[in-house]
Amino acid sequence: MAVSRLRFLSASGAATASLVAGAAQTPTIAEGATALPRVAVGKAKAFQVGKPVAFHYPDAQAPALAVKIGHKVDGGVGPEGDIVAYSQLCVHRGCPVSYNAGARTFVCPCHYSVYDPERSGQLVIGHATTNLPRITLAYDPGSDEIRATGVQGLIFGRFDNGKLS
Ligand code: FES
Repeated sequence: MAVSRLRFLSASGAATASLVAGAAQTPTIAEGATALPRVAVGKAKAFQVGKPVAFHYPDAQAPALAVKIGHKVDGGVGPEGDIVAYSQLCVHRGCPVSYNAGARTFVCPCHYSVYDPERSGQLVIGHATTNLPRITLAYDPGSDEIRATGVQGLIFGRFDNGKLS
């Protein structure tokens, strides 16, 4: 039996709408996933442009770097909206990246993958196949405190960001 084009489009539209509705009800933390803590990173006024601040998130086995870029960037926090943070573990094989203030990039010393902290940790070049996981930050103007609140992307060596592999 032939299905008219109009009936097909109508049916597929309804299916898409139900998928979208289902996605909207999906919890932000997947079942079985570990909720991540809020961890103090430091006071915004202590940050200097181009000088990364080391911390660990979400636990002591996960080094991370926060850096003040020097101009407002998407997802940046602090009074100037220019402080961002990323996992320090390169997603290729887990070597610790460092911040190149001149190029304003994170660079891996092992196989030279390069990531852009001004564009959500986007991979610029190298052996890695995904972006550098971003540590989401929150800023409290009252206390000037910056806190890590979550991770966008999967930290190297983990099944989920709350559990070591
Ligand atoms: S471990 Fe970073 S590029 Fe290979």
